[in-house]
Order: sequence, then structure tokens, then C-alpha cells
Amino acid sequence: MSTLLEVKHLSKFYINKKRIFGGTPETVKAVNDISFHVDEQETLGIVGESGCGKSTTGRAVLRLHEPTAGEVLFRGTNILDLSEDEMRPYRQKMQMVFQNANSCLDPRWTVERSLAEPILLHNPGIGKGELDDKIDTIMEEVGFSPMYKKKYPHEFSGGQRQRIGIAKAISVSPEFVVCDEPVSALDVSVQAQVLNLMKRLKEERKLSYLFISHDLSVIRFISDRVGVMYAGRIVELAETREFFKNALHPYSKVLMAAVPKPVIMEDKNALYQGIGKISEVSRSGCPFATRCPHAMDICRQQMPEEREAAPGHKVMCHLY
Ligand SMILES: Nc1ncnc2c1ncn2[C@@H]1O[C@H](COP(=O)(O)OP(=O)(O)O)[C@@H](O)[C@H]1O
Ligand SMILES: [Mg+2]
Repeated sequence: MSTLLEVKHLSKFYINKKRIFGGTPETVKAVNDISFHVDEQETLGIVGESGCGKSTTGRAVLRLHEPTAGEVLFRGTNILDLSEDEMRPYRQKMQMVFQNANSCLDPRWTVERSLAEPILLHNPGIGKGELDDKIDTIMEEVGFSPMYKKKYPHEFSGGQRQRIGIAKAISVSPEFVVCDEPVSALDVSVQAQVLNLMKRLKEERKLSYLFISHDLSVIRFISDRVGVMYAGRIVELAETREFFKNALHPYSKVLMAAVPKPVIMEDKNALYQGIGKISEVSRSGCPFATRCPHAMDICRQQMPEEREAAPGHKVMCHLY
């Protein structure tokens, strides 16, 4: 498979002005020099605890929030160099599914109107008949009878609304979709339905996903490869089966130990030491050093470089 999206040394820093009376504003390095790629028709899962920079990554890749540094190559074109006009075709090709469909659906609009909006934006010449057909087809694709398009968002359940949000994202025929915690607000039984729908759409429409979740079991189900984020860095990246068989980074092991039905429970006591607050990030050296059960002197002094522990299995840790 060829590469669809390549992200090189991407950073996004925020200036936190809250400290304005207490001295200089603090810089939050929400995403700090990360690199990864997503192949055509591939799902790259990004997992990590709250605040580690997952949503910032998704937004920066789509230029919903302008990155501070780095490159985002879509089929080889660095979209960060493009003007807003030049971006338009890429905005169509790159869509987003949000955690809560209310972020993309106007409560005062029927589903039909919400779905028509992006289609009209990207196909200004489309006729009424063709637009109607397109909306009906998309409703059916996400499992609704077309007559449901006359309803309003509040008339749907959470899972149904999320299916409408997915319909809106695919309505303009994207190639790449960032899915930011798309099932995290849903009951487990409904999660499976929505995940299965997303898997089916990926096959049928030959989509690539950047799939963000804090939930390792969701990531395992949906992803072809897994990237683990910690404090703005990707600390481990591997093919899904390899990752769940042979996770290397101490933080990845902590995440696995925190799953209710543990996937790996070796060295259990050591692992629990790692559960703490992300704010306790080391100033220099490895960001995980303050929580890591295996931390050595070098970990507190020097940022580990990315190493390829096995083919396609990258880890950023002094242990390897
Ligand atoms: N708009 C913003 N302004 C300032 N800080 C932000 C903003 N968005 C996110 N952050 C900070 O960036 C870090 C990463 O946030 P986020 O990407 O939302 O993490 P996640 O999605 O993994 O929970 C957090 O420390 C968060 O507080
Ligand atoms: Mg988030």
C-alpha cells in the first residue's frame, strides 16, 4: 500500500495566558515533534490518556488548528504550505468525525439540511435531484431509511446521532478521516455497532482513518497499526498484532495493565507505580521518567531517540 498521509516533526504549542499575573505565560507543548504515516486504506490508532495531545494531533493534521512546526504531506504535498484557496480540495479529502455529533449538527436543522451543507460547499453546481439522491444514498449507507432525513438531531439516540455525524463526514467522499474518540460517549453495546459501521465504510469507500481513542480495546478492534502518545510524543508505534503481543514501552505496559480485562499483566506491581498524573512530566529527559518503574539516570537526563526494535516496531525508550 502506498502512503496517503505523512506527518513529519509536527509540533503544536499553546501559550497558556492564565499565568499572566504570575509571570511569563507558560508554553504547553501539546504535540512535540511527532512523525508518523498513514497508508491508503489503513487505520492508524492513536491511544493515550487524557491530555496527552491526541485531539491536538488530529486537529493539527487537518489544519483546524494551525501547527507550530512540521510538515503534513497528503500524497506528497505539504498542505501546511497551501493558501486557504489551495486547501479547499484537501478540506474535502480530509474530514473529521467528532466525539459528539452535536459538534457538527445544528440542532435547528433537519438532518437533510446538515448533510446538504458540505455537499453544496464542495459541489456548488449540483442539481436538486442529484443532491436528494446523494443524501438518500448516504442515509442508507449508515443504516437509516431515507425518510429519517426529515428529523432533527434531538429525535435520534446518541448512537444514531453519531451515525449521522459519520454520514456528514463521508458525504463529500473523503479519502482520509480523523476520528476523535467517536465512540467514547456511547454505551458499549452501541459502540460495537458504530465501530462495525466505520469498519464497513472503510472497506467499501477505501478510506484511511486516524482513529483516536483513550480506550485500548477500541483501538485494538479498529486499528491496523497503533501509536501510543504520552505528553505530546509518540512513544511507541507498531502493527496492532505485534503491539498487543509485544508492547515494549513501559507506558504502553501501564496502559495495558489499566484495561479491566488485562492483556498483559507481567510485572504487575512495577506497572502500578506508573499510574499517576501527566502533569508530573520530567523537564529534561524522557517525559515518562517520573512515572516509569524502570527509570535509570539517563532517562532523567536525556530524551530517548526513536529506535526500531523490530521491523516496523518503533519505540522511544532508553531500555531498547
Ligand atoms: N486550545 C488550547 N489552548 C491551550 N491549551 C490547550 C488547547 N487545547 C489543548 N490544550 C492542552 O494541550 C494538551 C493536549 O490536549 P489534547 O490534545 O486535547 O489532549 P487529548 O485529546 O489527548 O486529551 C493538554 O495539556 C491541553 O490542556
Ligand atoms: Mg481529546
